[in-house]
Amino acid sequence: MTESDRPPSAPPASSGTKEAAPVLELDRVTLELGGRTILRDTSLVIRQGEFVGVLGPNGAGKTTLMRSVLGLVPAAHGVVRVLGEPVVCGNPSIGYMPQTRSALAGRRVRGRDFVAMAADGHRWGLPHADAKTRADVERVLDLVGGRALAQRPLSELSGGERQRLLLAQCLLGNPRLLLLDEPLISLDPHHQKSVVELVRRVQQELGIAVLFSAHELNPLLHALDRVLYLGNGVAALGTVDEVITKPVLSRLYGSAIDVIRMNGRIFVMSGDVEVEKHDHEHEDDGEHGHGRDHGGSHAHAHPHHHASRDGHTHDV
Ligand SMILES: Nc1ncnc2c1ncn2[C@@H]1O[C@H](COP(=O)(O)OP(=O)(O)O)[C@@H](O)[C@H]1O
Ligand SMILES: [Mg+2]
Repeated sequence: MTESDRPPSAPPASSGTKEAAPVLELDRVTLELGGRTILRDTSLVIRQGEFVGVLGPNGAGKTTLMRSVLGLVPAAHGVVRVLGEPVVCGNPSIGYMPQTRSALAGRRVRGRDFVAMAADGHRWGLPHADAKTRADVERVLDLVGGRALAQRPLSELSGGERQRLLLAQCLLGNPRLLLLDEPLISLDPHHQKSVVELVRRVQQELGIAVLFSAHELNPLLHALDRVLYLGNGVAALGTVDEVITKPVLSRLYGSAIDVIRMNGRIFVMSGDVEVEKHDHEHEDDGEHGHGRDHGGSHAHAHPHHHASRDGHTHDV
């Protein structure tokens, strides 16, 4: 399932990217948190131009994996590399959209200023931005089709529209790897579809790699090149046909799983329960889905959501 054990007959990661340079490499990586092993001795390679859906039950380690790529959770063993180099905090090659975003909804700040804040670090918004930053803000707004939205305050935007601007923030400074942590939480199916399509279009236009975590596979099914499924300290990376199978998922969930395909959709079942849905039933935007929080400091949505040049990565 990983690069090394994929069968020779398997299709390439995505057309034309077979020889693409590695963007993210895990080399025998073990991740531990609070004495628990989240990921055990895992090796994998994700290449330039790949859209990878990151799935797995609540608490499987999707967020922790992204935090390790950002250098916020050091590997207990092994090496995580981004563009061939061991991870560092504040790597400008990575754009990051953290999982918690609910506090944005009440903000009066204008969309364009909100996007600019991420470029500006602590200097708060466009009035103080230099010409280069302003040009970059316009570039990312164009990329996401967000110029009109950018005139309006965040509080007047729908969840899907805010996601568009959050994606714009992540694209500042031309990152080669985007880590998008559950961008579909609390969006209705229509907005989910448009966010997935937007990310896919931008990802292909820029030829960058995306890790996109989600509760459910189906909204991502037509966008993703490969799936990275986490569970039980194990990761399976491969095409949908390779990973979304009874034996692989039963291993990851640690119980008997059935995979049912119907009308172009895939249902991951444990008995008569749809596990992806069941696992996240009580989750909402602003929640972490697990008891242990990272210090309870999430009430304020820090404007600076980019793993930025000043070495800060916030709101995680
Ligand atoms: N700061 C922390 N300290 C200890 N354990 C943590 C911390 N953050 C998360 N965890 C635990 O690590 C596991 C993985 O969590 P997480 O990466 O948030 O999973 P996911 O994003 O897949 O839901 C969970 O069991 C969670 O309770
Ligand atoms: Mg998470």
